Amino acid sequence: MKIGVLTGGGDCPGLNPAIRAVVLRAHALGHTTLGFRDGWKGLRDDLTMPLAPADVRGLIGRGGTILGSSRTHPFQRPEDAEKVLTTWSKHRLDGLVAIGGDDTLSAARELARRGRPVVGVPKTMDNDVDGTDWTFGFFSASAVSLDALERLRDTGASHHRAMVLEVMGRHAGWVALATGLGGAADATLLPEEKYDESRLFDQVRRAVRERGFALVVASEGIDLGERRGRAGAADEFGHELLREREVGAELAQRIQAGTGIETRSAQIGHIQRGGAPVLFDRLLATRLGARAIDLAHAGRWGQVAVLRGGEVTGLPFDDALGRPKQVNADWLDLLHTFDG
Ligand code: F6P
Repeated sequence: MKIGVLTGGGDCPGLNPAIRAVVLRAHALGHTTLGFRDGWKGLRDDLTMPLAPADVRGLIGRGGTILGSSRTHPFQRPEDAEKVLTTWSKHRLDGLVAIGGDDTLSAARELARRGRPVVGVPKTMDNDVDGTDWTFGFFSASAVSLDALERLRDTGASHHRAMVLEVMGRHAGWVALATGLGGAADATLLPEEKYDESRLFDQVRRAVRERGFALVVASEGIDLGERRGRAGAADEFGHELLREREVGAELAQRIQAGTGIETRSAQIGHIQRGGAPVLFDRLLATRLGARAIDLAHAGRWGQVAVLRGGEVTGLPFDDALGRPKQVNADWLDLLHTFDG
């Protein structure tokens, strides 16, 4: 078979190892692969690149994606959908591996519904794809925000300040949860929970009283009620760019005004999307990329390679793509055991 490969949506560590796994497994099974650049844009506009085993050498530890990515929606306009199908036919593809988060995989599902053989590989630093236990990118991105929090601890402790770290994660608080739990933050604010200002001020006051400084982790997706600044612009899938709301800076102002404790904030933003994937993400990306090819090889099109209970397996698109997965009650309970 000749199998197309694309990566769509926000980049994250693990995409390159996943591409590598797809290509090497496909070739090991006697297939060939062709890369499409910049997500669905590549299939729409016929932007290809060679993707043979020699092209994926050295990728296991490289951040980003050699294929490029975009948030192009291929089915927003009928003429775009037409172009996608034309490119497919021109290259005589026998199948496609789409590597991406909810948006990219929803578009892959739409292509599958239009009769094309497609399999999916879930990725996202947000860890919010429903059908898989974990997505690659999440542990690498959270390791970066944990490192940032520990740096803020040093400067916060030196100045006896409250330090607020705003992390990415859209409408799921997994990155904030991991950063707050892993870094023993005094307060961790997630989109899954209602903002409680008096509780936050109590947590900050107590931390400063007991250890001389306070650490607060806030997910970019929290709702602070009355909004500061402008709303973020939206991407092609209609998602607001949440970092433009600057909730971390807003929180710092509120904490300082409400408690009298000097407070500073930092927004980690895209810094946490770059860099080498951690070991777990390398292994997960490798397993899922290889499994996607196994699914294709077995004719199990219309499925997504996922991690369930430690095993990699295939799930139909509809089962893999429920509502975006948010932090559940068990995790919240664990989190609040430590931040009171
Ligand atoms: O979905 C991944 C993510 O990094 C989110 O956490 C964040 O809200 C968004 O992408 C940022 O998107 P962009 O890179 O398009 O600004």
